[in-house]
Parts: sequence; C-alpha cells; structure tokens
Amino acid sequence: MKKIVVLAGDGIGPEIMTSALQIVKACLPSNPYFAFESYAFGGQAIEQYGTPLPKKTLQACQQADAILLGAIGDPKWENAAYTPEKGLLDLRRALDLYANIRPIKVTDAFLPFSPLKEQIVKGTDLVLVRELTSGIYFGEKKLSATEASDLNYYHREEIRRILRKAFQIARTRQRRVVSVDKANVLATSKLWRKVANEVAQEFPDCQLTHQYVDSAAMKILQQPTAFDVIVTENLFGDILSDEASVLPGSLGVLASASHSLSGVSLYEPIHGSAPDIAGKDIANPISMILSVGMMLTSFGMKSIADQMEQACYQVMEDGVVTCDLGGNTTTTEFTDAVIKKLGGY
Ligand code: NAD
Ligand code: IPM
Ligand code: MN
Repeated sequence: MKKIVVLAGDGIGPEIMTSALQIVKACLPSNPYFAFESYAFGGQAIEQYGTPLPKKTLQACQQADAILLGAIGDPKWENAAYTPEKGLLDLRRALDLYANIRPIKVTDAFLPFSPLKEQIVKGTDLVLVRELTSGIYFGEKKLSATEASDLNYYHREEIRRILRKAFQIARTRQRRVVSVDKANVLATSKLWRKVANEVAQEFPDCQLTHQYVDSAAMKILQQPTAFDVIVTENLFGDILSDEASVLPGSLGVLASASHSLSGVSLYEPIHGSAPDIAGKDIANPISMILSVGMMLTSFGMKSIADQMEQACYQVMEDGVVTCDLGGNTTTTEFTDAVIKKLGGY
C-alpha cells in the first residue's frame, strides 16, 4: 500500500484535486493500492494553524510515498508574516526537490484551442527541466523602504545535478538538450554554462546547445517543435513554462513532477490557485489529472496514466471543454465525462 499525501491547498486546488482523485479511483476501483491522506497546506493551513506548512504536514510528506499538491496562494495572504508561497518554497527545500519536470506536449486534441497556428504547434513535445531549490528564489533577500535585493546564487554541484537530470531524461527521448541561461550578463549563468559543458562530457551520445533566455522565450513560441529537453535555472524555468502553456492553449493543462535525488517526489500543476475563477466549478482539471498520471508512471503504472490522459483528450474531441479553452463545461461535468469514457459509472 502506497501512502499518498494530498495537499489540496487554496483556490481551485481542492476543485481540481477532487476531480483527479475521483478519476484515479475510477481507474483502480477495487484496488486498495493507494491510501490518500489529506493535510493542511498553504493559506488554508494559515487559517487553521497559523502557518502554511504545519509540522504535521511536513512530517507526513517526509514519510509519504508521493505527494499530490493542488495549488496555494491568494491575495488575502500576501502580507502574511509567513506566506503560502514561502510555505511551498520551504516544502520544496525541506524535501530537496531540486528537479522540476514540466512536460509540454501539444497533442492533436489541443490543436483547435491553441491561439497559435497549427503548423507551428502541431507535434510539440518538449520537457522543461527547471532547477527548483536554488537560484534567486533562495539567495539572501534584503528589503528596506528605499532598497531591495535578491541574491542569485548557484553552487556548481546544484548546477551539475540538474544538468545530469536533464541529460538522463534526454536519453529516454531525442537526446537533445538546450541549456537556457543569460551568460552574456550573469555570473551565475557563466558558471552554469561551464558546468553544463562539463556534464555534457558524461553524455557523449547527447547533444548540448546553449541559448540565451530572451531568445529562447521567442523561439519557444516561434518554433516549439525544435526543442526536446530544455534545462534552466529556477526563475527562468518558472517564466518559460507559463509562457509555454500558450502552446496547448491553457495553463490549466500542464502538469509537473518534482524529484529529489532519492526521497519522496511531489506532483503538482504548474499553475496557481486561480483566485479569479475559484469556487465556480469551472477550472480545468487536466493539469491535476496529468500530475497524478506522472505519479502513476513513476510507480510503474504508465498504462493507467495513459488511459486517463487519452480519456481527457477523447472527451475534448467530443466537445467537452472547460472555459479556459473556450468551452462551457464545468469541472464536475468534465470529470464525469472522463470517468464515463474510462468505463466507470
Ligand atoms: P494562476 O496560475 O493561479 O492563474 C493565472 C491565470 O490562469 C488565471 O487567469 C487563471 O484563471 C488561469 N488558470 C490557472 N489554472 C487554471 C485552470 N486549471 N483552469 C482554468 N484556468 C486556469 O496565477 P496567478 O493568478 O498569478 O496567481 C494566483 C495565486 O497562485 C498567487 O497567490 C500565486 O502566488 C499562486 N501560485 C501558486 C502556485 C502553486 O501552488 N504551485 C503556482 C503559481 C502561482
Ligand atoms: C510555480 C509557482 C511558484 C514558483 C510560486 C507560487 C512560489 O509559480 O510553482 O511555478 O514560482 O515556483
Ligand atoms: Mn510559476
């Protein structure tokens, strides 16, 4: 029995989590393979316990076989002494989740919904590998009434391990890694590029190229099919992945997995709590469904992950589409349609 810690979180987090759990349970109807246990996290935990990352939640995560996270955050907690976002960063750091894997795949079901031309996006299948536990997010911060600074710090070992991860993933794919940096300006990027070249020596069967982040931001939209694996630092990865969500047509369809070297992994959508649509039962749950799929795949249950993913695309092709993609299906209706497609109900 695998123990899965569920952190539904804030805003649309609980809505998409409910959907994804219903779907995965429909796929494993009489199989007590997973024990799902919910814990407070984010703003919801601030309300209940006065902290976004209660000790009990962290302990449960440390002892879990996997963690599923919906989303956290809301403007109402942005001035809290300890914000939901800081709670998320602390959780990532505590579990050493340095490797954030964000697949961006435009399957044919998305083609009618992408704002970009079909000939540009068709066939897009790239993986963005984002360093998640260092860089400007975690360097020293200073803030006074007149001055502020954020230190962008990287140790070569932090660069080395994320580059290795990217090459390992590339070996299961087309063996092409693009390392994205700003080495024409930033010292951290100069070190990044040097270490990337060193790590590339360990993977002579793979190709490494370097690209500046500004030009990569353009190329991702202009010629997304040119990419196989993109590896980049924390902040660039955050920005480029939201940008890349324009390719399939919505932030609400992109999933992620965050891994440490040997501990528990966490699975979460790349988007946030979407306060603008929370509580309306209109969020797209595909991001969470595919995140659960990434968890299943890591447990050797890829065929079930594939079934869930294909069922989502099939219902989209039937015209069952949430409003972020221009449809008018509710989260509940979408969930029911996927379960029906999977043979449940
Ligand atoms: P957001 O990602 O929550 O939303 C951006 C836009 O995308 C909104 O218009 C939203 O409605 C839409 N959107 C996002 N997910 C969707 C879905 N599944 N279905 C349909 N539409 C969807 O970004 P934001 O509004 O800048 O941030 C809101 C809050 O979320 C902030 O507090 C932020 O810090 C937090 N946040 C949390 C995470 C996380 O939990 N990992 C990630 C990003 C942002
Ligand atoms: C993400 C989010 C987080 C990040 C925030 C909420 C701290 O945007 O997971 O992409 O910037 O890493
Ligand atoms: Mn983000």
